[in-house]
Amino acid sequence: MKRAVCPGSFDPITYGHLDIIKRASAQFDQVVVAVLENRTKSSLFTVAERIEMIAETTATLPNVSVDSWTGLLAEYCKNNSITAIVKGLRAVTDFDYELQMAQLNLQASGVETMLMATAPAHSFLSSSLVKELAHYGGDVSTMVPPNVNAALKLRVGGK
Ligand code: PNS
Repeated sequence: MKRAVCPGSFDPITYGHLDIIKRASAQFDQVVVAVLENRTKSSLFTVAERIEMIAETTATLPNVSVDSWTGLLAEYCKNNSITAIVKGLRAVTDFDYELQMAQLNLQASGVETMLMATAPAHSFLSSSLVKELAHYGGDVSTMVPPNVNAALKLRVGGK
């Protein structure tokens, strides 16, 4: 049984995340989408809200589950018999950070990191950009699933 984790802050989940989760679910027996803390970011949605949005948008993927964790990703992998971390790589600007994390997690727990090329349609997409757009009333309906779009409208008053 090959188990992978798609970790992230998912504040909120975007179609870019969803694309990576779907493609990871085709490669592994089980995929856990884990909402983790990124200490460099402040969040718009609570962890419970983020979990609910992810669970709704991944409901059609039978081998995908959602979880959260407040410690190290390497520790989460060890505790849950997860042998692979799957993350999306949008552009070369993601590379340094992702490589550093991958090497650190490999050293910490022996867990492999698979960096999956983001679909070109999503290469510019980030949760931060979505929040910025929504904050100023921009249309984010092509960037996030409908439930997330509705939650953003309620939270930041976007159109
Ligand atoms: O979606 P993000 O914000 O790019 O995801 C980053 C995340 C949450 C995966 C990363 O910050 C993380 O792994 N946080 C958990 C704590 C940890 O293991 N940090 C790295 C080693 S110090």
